[in-house]
Amino acid sequence: MPILAGVIGSPVAHSLSPLIHTIWAHRAGIGGYYVPIEVPAPYDDYARAMDALKTIGFAGVNVTIPHKENALRYSDKSSDLASKVGSANMLTFTDNGSYADNSDVTGFENAMKNAAPDISAKGAGLVLGAGGASRAIIVALQRIGVENIFITNRTHKKAALLAERFGLEAAPWSKRRHAVEGADLVVNTTSLGMDGQPPLDLDGAQLKPGAVVADIVYTPVETPLLKLARDGGNPGVNGLTMLMHQAAPGFRAWFGGEAKVDDGLRAALVGELERRRP
Ligand code: ATR
Repeated sequence: MPILAGVIGSPVAHSLSPLIHTIWAHRAGIGGYYVPIEVPAPYDDYARAMDALKTIGFAGVNVTIPHKENALRYSDKSSDLASKVGSANMLTFTDNGSYADNSDVTGFENAMKNAAPDISAKGAGLVLGAGGASRAIIVALQRIGVENIFITNRTHKKAALLAERFGLEAAPWSKRRHAVEGADLVVNTTSLGMDGQPPLDLDGAQLKPGAVVADIVYTPVETPLLKLARDGGNPGVNGLTMLMHQAAPGFRAWFGGEAKVDDGLRAALVGELERRRP
């Protein structure tokens, strides 16, 4: 039987995960399929879909918006990491049920460590945004060892809630430029800078020398924030790099092969994004 895996979301047609896994499977000579599966948002729909996938022999699935909390709720067991973040992006079917994990956290950590090996020495981190993606990034920064983490968000209440939950400082959104200038590590987890969205308005901001900048947005691959980093000679980590790193644990768990994040894979993804441009 070929190995079966996939990504559950809504919408999910745009996901690059099927291409990433297909390339790794091809490279490793492993027979299998990784498919996008659209499932409506309510938990009951999610649970029925998962029961069906387990019955037909899926090895596991990645889980994306809006199902990351559903994945944690559905699972029989979960990793400490998934529980801490409060959501899961990986669900593995086992003989005893299902196991939820969160490779958004470890994927981000690996992407940062590759870009800046001295990352754990960074003192002040700034997280822009307080949505679902933000929680995984915060947990990753804490695991990396960043001492002071600031969070800022358009809706301040959401930043304040995460600040309380994870022991951070909440900074006003109106002061985001100032906050960026004081940070050793800046991560955008908002949708600002994405094609069709306004840019993160940081006009004229000066990054600290050597500050590492990461952006979860990958359309375009170089966002205005990452261009600011490049112009200042600062290391940057783009959303594609994070995406490839978060995919690797799933591939290893379900297909059992090597999952290398390299220039060949990156070029294939950039080519696919270019093909999709209107
Ligand atoms: P995800 O799960 O990918 O993090 P999300 O939960 O919808 O998605 O969060 C989106 C983030 O982008 C939020 O921090 C959101 O800010 P609000 O909490 O104020 O909604 C932020 N965001 C989206 N559009 C924005 C805009 N035009 N200006 C500022 N922030 C924006």
